[in-house]
Amino acid sequence: MSKQHQFDVLIIGTGSAGLMSALQLSDDLSIALIAKDKILEGSSYYAQGGISAVLDTDDNFDAHIKDTLETAAGLGDESAVRFMVEQAPDAIASLEESGVHFTRKADQYHLTTEGGHSARRVAHVADKTGESIQTNLLSNVKNKKNITLFESHIAIDLLTKNSNCYGAYILNKSTNTVESFITHKTIIATGGASKAYLYTSNPDTSTGDGIAMAYRSGCDIVNMEFTQFHPTCLYHPHAKSFLISEALRGEGGKLILPNGDAFMRKYDDRAELAPRDVVARAIDFEMKTNGFDCVYLDISFKEKSWLQEHFPTIYKKCISFGIDISKDPIPVVPAAHYTCGGIQTNLDAQSNITNLYAIGEAAHTGVHGANRMASNSLLECIVFAKSCAKHINLQTFNEAQPKFDNWDASRVTPSQEKVVVSHLWDEIRRIMWNFVGIVRSNKRLHYAQLKLTQIQSEVNEYYRLYLISNDLIELRNLVKIAQIIVQSAITRTESRGLHYNEDYPEKADQPTDTIIQKS
Ligand code: FAD
Ligand code: SIN
Repeated sequence: MSKQHQFDVLIIGTGSAGLMSALQLSDDLSIALIAKDKILEGSSYYAQGGISAVLDTDDNFDAHIKDTLETAAGLGDESAVRFMVEQAPDAIASLEESGVHFTRKADQYHLTTEGGHSARRVAHVADKTGESIQTNLLSNVKNKKNITLFESHIAIDLLTKNSNCYGAYILNKSTNTVESFITHKTIIATGGASKAYLYTSNPDTSTGDGIAMAYRSGCDIVNMEFTQFHPTCLYHPHAKSFLISEALRGEGGKLILPNGDAFMRKYDDRAELAPRDVVARAIDFEMKTNGFDCVYLDISFKEKSWLQEHFPTIYKKCISFGIDISKDPIPVVPAAHYTCGGIQTNLDAQSNITNLYAIGEAAHTGVHGANRMASNSLLECIVFAKSCAKHINLQTFNEAQPKFDNWDASRVTPSQEKVVVSHLWDEIRRIMWNFVGIVRSNKRLHYAQLKLTQIQSEVNEYYRLYLISNDLIELRNLVKIAQIIVQSAITRTESRGLHYNEDYPEKADQPTDTIIQKS
């Protein structure tokens, strides 16, 4: 007999969105907080550059809003952007209350800048902002008696009836059994889906599970064609997913070709600090046209001691690969970094399924539109985690819950062919990289769609026959996410922000969101 748990609130995901929402929920509520891996594993922990907020007297909310909307290329939702920007100083205060010490110069914040920002407004903890946020939030969570942490528990599907959510089926990876978590409110905080691509800056957790689960339950999934490619990931055979922060360009780092020529001015007057879509496309163009394996980012004009103080993680990581960034240019390539689309939510983080909320990278709040501005993601995580918790705290919890059957594993057998899972996983990620990358075309998108339809039926068959496992759950989600991205990209017959299709190089007159819903 598999276990059933009862909680008031289930939070799926322990990134900065999940942890902050747990901390902001009322102490009267019983909360289950689950992570499919170690609690700290997720994109939040690896965030480098920082979190944006108007903190300087020379800056103002209108400028932050304008920059965010300009970067969003016509698809940003102004009211959501205003909501986020105006709450940014409060988000910073909440993080400080939890113990985060942002880097300061004398008694002022040391603010950096990144692409798209017209002012210095990125608060950071050297280049370990995510590590500091995550370790502090977690230590606060551990002090709360009403929160139970479940590590190595992976959510499979939501428990829904009549467009109402009552929790989720969750695989306990230590016992290999599926447990039911029956709850009044469920918050999806599962992060993004950049693992759909072969090369990514993201950790292995970013397989879009929450978005795929929400899709299967009938949520609107919006603007998934906008995958953000970070222009500068370290290019080295052993440097899996290592990011070279945009903050290096904020401090004057130059992008150069192998012969030393700077090239960004050819593409945009803002050069290295143009928004990411522009910089990533420029690098992609230079690499493809000239047959280069990578381009280079040069920050060697800065003193070694300054680099060690401001970018200690990057400095040490590069040294471990034999690159001294105070002398050598850093080899870099673009890689999938951020999922701008996701589960449609309102300002209280509610989805269109009753009692189901989504926050962080899994959500589509409208603040990023067709392209996210750097350091607005951690901000979105914190602001919407807080508004979500505030909304839940105002609810009553006396609703009767329907009965759900325990997970039935009587008709499946252990698989002897696990290679099928790893093969299909690899195939999906290659298809996405080769045919649904930085530059797209109708032909490539339709080819990807055809291939993914075949893979989907193989995955369905495998899922029907064999015992559930972490890899199978992720594969099932990944193929669905890849299909949603391709379907969204095919639907958008224009080029805008992060979506560039050679067959439709112009922007449409009227920007519209792409909404995908299970038929
Ligand atoms: P994550 O932090 O990714 O957490 C997801 C959580 O969900 C994890 O706990 C995971 O275990 C859990 N999970 C996933 N699926 C399941 C499942 N099926 N069952 C149970 N648990 C599940 N943004 C900025 O604003 N500033 C930056 O400086 C910055 N730097 C970045 C650097 C790197 C290298 C990367 C990868 C991203 C960076 N970003 C930055 C983006 C930002 O870090 C992320 O968008 C943000 O942290 C996402 O937070 P999240 O809480 O939504 O998800
Ligand atoms: C970076 O430090 O370059 C990442 C910032 C971000 O993704 O917002």
